[in-house]
Amino acid sequence: MRMTVIGTGYLGATHAACMAELGHEVLGVDVDENKIEALKNSKVPFYEPGLPEVLERNIDAGRLDFTTDYDEVAAFANVHFIGVGTPQQRGSYAADTRYVEAVIDDLVPKLQGHHVILGKSTVPVGTAAALQERADKLVQDGASVEIAWNPEFLREGYAVKDTIEPDRIVLGVRGASATHEESRAEEVAREVYATPLENDTPFIVTDLQTAELVKVSANAFLATKISFINAVSEVCENVGADVTQLADAIGYDDRIGRKFLGAGLGFGGGCLPKDIRAFMARAGEVGADQALTFLREVDAINMRRRQRVIDLAREELGSLIGRNITVLGAAFKPNSDDVRDSPALAVAGQLSLAGASVRVYDPQGMDNARKVFPTLDYATSLEDALNGAELVILATEWQEFKQMDPVWAAGLVDKQLLIDGRNVLDPQTWQAAGWQLRALGRTLG
Ligand SMILES: NC(=O)c1ccc[n+]([C@@H]2O[C@H](COP(=O)([O-])OP(=O)(O)OC[C@H]3O[C@@H](n4cnc5c(N)ncnc54)[C@H](O)[C@@H]3O)[C@@H](O)[C@H]2O)c1
Repeated sequence: MRMTVIGTGYLGATHAACMAELGHEVLGVDVDENKIEALKNSKVPFYEPGLPEVLERNIDAGRLDFTTDYDEVAAFANVHFIGVGTPQQRGSYAADTRYVEAVIDDLVPKLQGHHVILGKSTVPVGTAAALQERADKLVQDGASVEIAWNPEFLREGYAVKDTIEPDRIVLGVRGASATHEESRAEEVAREVYATPLENDTPFIVTDLQTAELVKVSANAFLATKISFINAVSEVCENVGADVTQLADAIGYDDRIGRKFLGAGLGFGGGCLPKDIRAFMARAGEVGADQALTFLREVDAINMRRRQRVIDLAREELGSLIGRNITVLGAAFKPNSDDVRDSPALAVAGQLSLAGASVRVYDPQGMDNARKVFPTLDYATSLEDALNGAELVILATEWQEFKQMDPVWAAGLVDKQLLIDGRNVLDPQTWQAAGWQLRALGRTLG
């Protein structure tokens, strides 16, 4: 099957390469010429384990190509995926849908024949229906465009597996009405996803608005679960309880589950923070303003954890001015180079603004971090990062940091003081090696 993927960022580049891996002929398009140039040359412009191999294999097999030219896109296929960004609007909680709108404006007037556009970007409920109206106004005589929504649930770091073997596939289609023909989108999606569907992947076909809401609800739930344990963590800190043991204990209840109960520095990234805010904003617009006010608290709890780490640093060091602090981590989570709204980088930035001399190390996120915070000092290796530190903050739980040898690390730092912002180090082992440890939600002797 031939298809295009519009927007080749974290989501789109992965989707394009994985659709080719499933045997389809795919053309990816982006407005960013550098990104397209890199992808054409089999280079993934971001870090995603396993993706470079899939990209290269499928380019070599002639099933995958990239362009910046919308004329080529219109001529290449009758099925198009949209994976462009939907960031938070400036000065508002709402999502900025201008990029998805631009895709419709640029693509639809060029289309001939019958086309199905499957949106994958995360959008406010009602967007797909509005885009359908927009498309209907722009479409040439004799051509037709159906817009359907097929939200994406991939996790950065596991994006290839999640795309090729998704947990579930959700498809929102328009209802039959006087002005619309029957939906063709389900038939198209069944062909696109033939391989996962043969493997019994649950396939939920619903209306457009439910599909849009599934995605933001999933993210709101995950964010709430993280903030729940972080709220409990605040109580644990005040009474000397241990949030990690507490999470283990409640996690054995399979109605609760242990996943996403990792107390620590909280969530960040290009999805959860902006998605919960956009969901709140949209709820207000559709007259359900009371429904999601709790997400404001979820957001606030999450932000307080960043401040808590700064406060711990102050408690330990007194004044932060001129102190050598090493922050381990810049990406918002391990196995990614994505620093969008990264808790690690937020902590590093705040410490620096408070006068500390901050050195950052991340196995993959350094280039992106440098663009956001050029004034921080970036180490060349973990060893370089630890050299001369008076305080080490573990802010992103990369394997390299979790496996760090406390005796080796002790030989590098000036002072054996560490804040475990992710609760991933074994306190006994570190304390036995002479380290003084602080953590979130636990009082360590
Ligand atoms: N990153 C994830 O893990 C993930 C997971 C699920 C859903 N999503 C959603 O997917 C969407 C994209 O996220 P992302 O992380 O890939 O963002 P991203 O910023 O990495 O990529 C977006 C891409 O769209 C391109 N673009 C913008 N306007 C364009 C246009 N008119 N035509 C062609 N390309 C255009 C940009 O140049 C950029 O390369 C968002 O709505 C996000 O919420 C992301």
